Amino acid sequence: MVASSACSATIGQPAPPASIRAAMGDETQRRSLLSARDLVKVFVDARGRAREALVGVDLDVREGEFLSIIGPSGCGKSTLLRILGGLSRPTSGSLECAVDAVGRIAFVFQDHALFPWLRVVDNAAFGLRMAGVGARERRRRAMVWLERFGLAAFADAWPDELSGGMRQRLSLARALTTDPRVLLMDEPLGALDPQTRLIVQQDLARLFEETGVTMVLVTHSLEEALLLGDRVAAMTARPGRIAEVLQVPLARPRREDTLDTTAFAALRHALWQRLEREVHSAMELQR
Ligand SMILES: Nc1ncnc2c1ncn2[C@@H]1O[C@H](COP(=O)(O)OP(=O)(O)OP(=O)(O)O)[C@@H](O)[C@H]1O
Ligand SMILES: [Mg+2]
Repeated sequence: MVASSACSATIGQPAPPASIRAAMGDETQRRSLLSARDLVKVFVDARGRAREALVGVDLDVREGEFLSIIGPSGCGKSTLLRILGGLSRPTSGSLECAVDAVGRIAFVFQDHALFPWLRVVDNAAFGLRMAGVGARERRRRAMVWLERFGLAAFADAWPDELSGGMRQRLSLARALTTDPRVLLMDEPLGALDPQTRLIVQQDLARLFEETGVTMVLVTHSLEEALLLGDRVAAMTARPGRIAEVLQVPLARPRREDTLDTTAFAALRHALWQRLEREVHSAMELQR
């Protein structure tokens, strides 16, 4: 699904704040495609009470990086992703979008939102149809991605003939057929069983390494955030802000055996130390 981006286009990018620069090290050399500054999002519930979902969020999505976003349930991860993708406007703050990312942001949602009345190939080609691409070219481009995800043999099947893992791969294929500049994913693998999830994680790692598409992934899994991310942004309990941006200096390609390394265990430990108190705070908020 391709979202039209509501963010303002800019060519020159403002430098990120020093706190973020210090945490990012060499990453500051890359230019920002999306640049959020001091974002605030306030929702008003049915009884008219204001609820702050995000406060003072500063975050850059850098060209060619894989950025993971993790945080306790209800801390505003989906809200932040929707703002980054132009699907929702912040209450205050700014979002700048590099000129070549405008209108080229694709989303993958957790529930994969496939169209049951369209065959697999037509689901994969849906974004192209919306963009006015002709039928023959749509099918050709969709088939490239279906092949890549091992779904070519199912091109003429219906979505409900696919397993959960295959449906999730189809969602990724559908997002990628539109040749996005940035792929935003909101817990895309959350509904998968653990073994299928491992396989699709590795599909995603391979895809990132091969295509260089800038990717942002919201996840609850520490392992997934670290296995896939060049950086992991850890959020505080609601109202969400960025608590820390952790570098993941693990070599690529990253595969399942990366999870068994001592470097990985040390990163997981550091990330959990930062997150644990936020998860406790979020649980307190729910009481
Ligand atoms: N459309 C809305 N109207 C009112 N409140 C909302 C709306 N969307 C989100 N919220 C509130 O904003 C806060 C953040 O929600 P959000 O869905 O962004 O959290 P999240 O981190 O994605 O949670 P989860 O991990 O459970 O997916 C929550 O308190 C939620 O109830
Ligand atoms: Mg969410």
